[in-house]
Formats: sequence, structure tokens, C-alpha cells
Amino acid sequence: MKVIITGVAGYLGSATAYKFLDKGYQVLGIDFMKRGQGEALELLSTFKGFHFALLDLASELNRLKEIVKYFKPDTAKAEFTAQLREV
Ligand SMILES: NC(=O)c1ccc[n+]([C@@H]2O[C@H](COP(=O)([O-])OP(=O)(O)OC[C@H]3O[C@@H](n4cnc5c(N)ncnc54)[C@H](O)[C@@H]3O)[C@@H](O)[C@H]2O)c1
Repeated sequence: MKVIITGVAGYLGSATAYKFLDKGYQVLGIDFMKRGQGEALELLSTFKGFHFALLDLASELNRLKEIVKYFKPDTAKAEFTAQLREV
């Protein structure tokens, strides 16, 4: 099974990604790394089923569409992006 998790470097996103990876899922994590934690990504990257896309969801919609088309996720989806735009 494949799942995309946005905000994957954040508190909830990284913990959720870990759970999915631990159960053998393929996880494509998305984050723009302005507030996320690099350490969380280091841990997730130790799983061979983890893939990462550095992407700003607020401004890179076309790239997001391409990534989704390429990755072909299953229906499961978790979104943990705290904020789409800088204020
Ligand atoms: N942490 C909690 O206990 C809690 C409880 C209830 C609700 N929430 C909500 O859940 C969401 C996530 O919470 P969190 O604690 O994991 O936040 P967090 O700040 O730790 O993680 C959010 C992640 O989203 C990323 N992000 C933000 N905007 C982005 C964008 N435009 N493109 C790509 N990545 C982007 C950030 O870089 C960060 O890594 C928030 O909306 C929060 O309000 C959190």
C-alpha cells in the first residue's frame, strides 16, 4: 500500500509516517522544510519504503499533481500541513 503524507517533517506527520512505514507501507512524504525537523526525516529515511519530496504545497500545485501521478498512492491519505502560506 502507498500513502502520501504532507507535513511529514512535522510533529504529527513524522509520527504518522513512522507508523505506516513500520507496517510496511510505501510512504511519500511531502514538506517544504521551513518549520519541519530534519532529525525526523533522518529517522524516516532509514526505512527503504520512504520517499521524500521537497515541495511547497501552496505554490507548486502542478509539481504535486505530477508527483501524485507518478507515485500512484492508494486511497489512504494523511495531511498534517500546519499552514499553507507564510503569514
Ligand atoms: N500537534 C498537535 O498536538 C496538534 C493537535 C491538533 C491539531 N494539530 C494540527 O495538525 C497540524 C500539524 O500539526 P504539527 O504539530 O504536526 O505541526 P508542525 O508544525 O510540527 O508540522 C507541520 C509541517 O508542515 C510543513 N508545512 C507547512 N506548510 C507547508 C507547505 N505550504 N508546503 C509543504 N509543507 C508545509 C511544515 O514544514 C512542518 O514540517 C496543524 O494544522 C496543527 O494545528 C496539531
